[in-house]
Amino acid sequence: MALYSGKVMDHFRNPRNVGVIEDADGIGEVGNPVCGDIMKIYLKIDGDIISDVKFETFGCGSAIASSSMATEMIKGRSISEALELTNKAVAEALDGLPAHKMHCSVLAEEAIKLALKDYYDKNGISYDESLFAGIGEDEE
Ligand code: FES
Repeated sequence: MALYSGKVMDHFRNPRNVGVIEDADGIGEVGNPVCGDIMKIYLKIDGDIISDVKFETFGCGSAIASSSMATEMIKGRSISEALELTNKAVAEALDGLPAHKMHCSVLAEEAIKLALKDYYDKNGISYDESLFAGIGEDEE
């Protein structure tokens, strides 16, 4: 069996939503100190809807595929839906990732959450701190 699914290869070779949003409403950046990969997510938010999302990922193929899939999964969705996106859902949408590559999908979940936290912080919107507990801390 191939190590990577067709969807992983597709999103790695043709990543969706690559780039920068200059006037982003929220920006989230996370890195994994073990592998050194870094992911940055930019959000444009209109009302409660994520109207645009872009990413820059300096990382492995699984991280690029995870960023691409995760951005597709939250585009046009509400903030609360985006907050519910888990790395497991991203990996499932990619038809799976090898066990030792699951941490790559965690970067996508966390970068999105940090971008939403940034949006809340910039706009003085109060939120439940537990939503973002542990994000950005060192992981294996
Ligand atoms: Fe680190 Fe994939 S190997 S994000």
